[in-house]
Amino acid sequence: DHMKSFLQELPKCEHHLHLEGTLEPNLLFKLAERNKIQLPSSFPKNIEECSKRYASFEDLQDFLNHYYVGMSVLITEDDFYDLAMAYFTKAEQDGCLHSEVFFDPQGHVERGVSVDLVVKGFDRACRDATKKLGTTNKLIMCLLRHLPASNGMETIKSVEKYHQQGIIHGLGLDSSEKPFPPGLFIDCYKEIKQKYPNVGLTAHAGEEGDYNYVIDSLDKLGASRIDHGINSKQSNELLARLAKNKTMLTMCPLSNVKLQVVKDVGELPINLFLQSDVPFSINSDDPAYFGGYILDNYISVHTRFGFNINQWAKIVNNGIEGSWCDDKRKSELK
Ligand code: ADE
Ligand code: ZN
Repeated sequence: DHMKSFLQELPKCEHHLHLEGTLEPNLLFKLAERNKIQLPSSFPKNIEECSKRYASFEDLQDFLNHYYVGMSVLITEDDFYDLAMAYFTKAEQDGCLHSEVFFDPQGHVERGVSVDLVVKGFDRACRDATKKLGTTNKLIMCLLRHLPASNGMETIKSVEKYHQQGIIHGLGLDSSEKPFPPGLFIDCYKEIKQKYPNVGLTAHAGEEGDYNYVIDSLDKLGASRIDHGINSKQSNELLARLAKNKTMLTMCPLSNVKLQVVKDVGELPINLFLQSDVPFSINSDDPAYFGGYILDNYISVHTRFGFNINQWAKIVNNGIEGSWCDDKRKSELK
């Protein structure tokens, strides 16, 4: 319909998507068979059981427990390539012109998969997506905050050459937010900032953790944007700081509902962020698990908030400005 095609045509950018979170049940079961992976008996047996399991998660941890098992079917470089290529294809259909995507190397290395094959598979998909679809993209490596910072440091060392080659463009921090505050990862962020000053810094904060997680991500990690960040609503002082510094929050409406951070998209502090001049973008997080890609997330917001053309123009413009691409690409996106 009219509303959907209007939102489809907006020049959208994705800033908060975990590639492992795009593993659709059909690919998951195909790879399990191809790689002869025996999933635990508690895992859904088929696509139908997945849709029941995914109807709702108790909280972030309940989802993560499932997500780390799901990704265990990814073994070969082609698996990582196929996963990312399927995502880029879907994103392009949704009218997403530029994607900055997360991956979790520790979730694979922990299971004995080499980090090189993970990065090579994802990077090849990134290049092919640009060649075949004309969309642009960047890889952001995330550290798992439930693992020790020393393991994060080893992970950073293990991908040194991909930083030098400009294959990894950002550093993020994800997994169980509480009780793993940003301050635990000061050295990891410092290492990247000193060695690779062009690498963008972000961190998940204020999803389940309170607004102090956001403040610490800014102060202690030097993050230039914040993933989720919705609990910034708890502090007017923080909102003013985010607005002044144009620090973008990468919101994920359908994720917040599925993980029971809010009961309904309409409860999200989107009007507060708009009024406070806090830039935000609208993103997918783990679309295979949360019931929708970027366009579905835009639709969910439009359905609740009914923004006019000018408001949408401001939102997508903030998304372009908050992207980590160069000014030339930004002007193409507008
Ligand atoms: N890993 C994948 N999705 C995540 C989320 N929403 N929060 C934290 N870690 C994640
Ligand atoms: Zn996330």
